[in-house]
Amino acid sequence: MGTSTARHAEVLVADLAPADYDAAVGVLARGMRDNPIHVAAYGPDPDRRERCQARLVRALFHASRGNEPLGVWRDGVLVACTGVLLDGACRPGLAEQLRLLPAMTRLGPRTLGRMAAWLGVWAEHEPKEAHAHLGPLAVDRDLQGQGLGSILLAEHTRRLDQAGLLGYLETDKPENVRFYTRAGYRVVAEAPALGVPSWFMRREPRARARA
Ligand SMILES: CC(C)(COP(=O)(O)OP(=O)(O)OC[C@H]1O[C@@H](n2cnc3c(N)ncnc32)[C@H](O)[C@@H]1OP(=O)(O)O)[C@@H](O)C(=O)NCCC(=O)NCCS
Repeated sequence: MGTSTARHAEVLVADLAPADYDAAVGVLARGMRDNPIHVAAYGPDPDRRERCQARLVRALFHASRGNEPLGVWRDGVLVACTGVLLDGACRPGLAEQLRLLPAMTRLGPRTLGRMAAWLGVWAEHEPKEAHAHLGPLAVDRDLQGQGLGSILLAEHTRRLDQAGLLGYLETDKPENVRFYTRAGYRVVAEAPALGVPSWFMRREPRARARA
């Protein structure tokens, strides 16, 4: 999917390197702490939700070989990021599942059971054809609503169009559906996971204008 960077005033959009993963885990754990699916999966305590999400994201980033994550830095600080799982990476193989297991079992059997139910519903809707699976994606908690998520998404969709690749994601908030619709995604299915509405969205690549 390319490694180009794009400048927006003092804001930089670029690929995340492994050295950025700790900062990315922090952004994603803080930014996604209060999402409805995480309240349902991890429970009512916000600190516990943040810890559980950090554990899941850290395991995903370190275990997934097909992840090409992307970040937004403002004044040198990572403020938004996303995983981008390329074909097949969203369905981890046995070796990757085994690598994820120790981190996951520390979440406890109840949380683990809820996560299995939630991710099982989401996996049922996964496209069969080649695609880039967006997420987990977040802007840091106190910085949402300032256009940073749109900058991140614009770079991702630019790359999708450049590669001629189908985009796909799941989300659990109606305001996020509006956010992704503006970038060309459309809802293809809706189903509850742990009783939380989930929307499944895909985006066909746009034909590039001829030079
Ligand atoms: C969803 C998210 C990435 C959007 O990035 P952002 O920088 O806040 O959004 P922008 O300022 O670029 O765009 C604003 C649009 O984002 C959507 N949005 C979703 N959550 C929002 C929030 N907490 N604050 C502001 N806008 C939000 C709305 O559609 C909004 O447009 P509107 O004001 O016309 O309704 C970010 O709000 C976030 O990290 N939310 C929590 C985690 C999450 O839900 N991640 C996505 C999981 S699929």
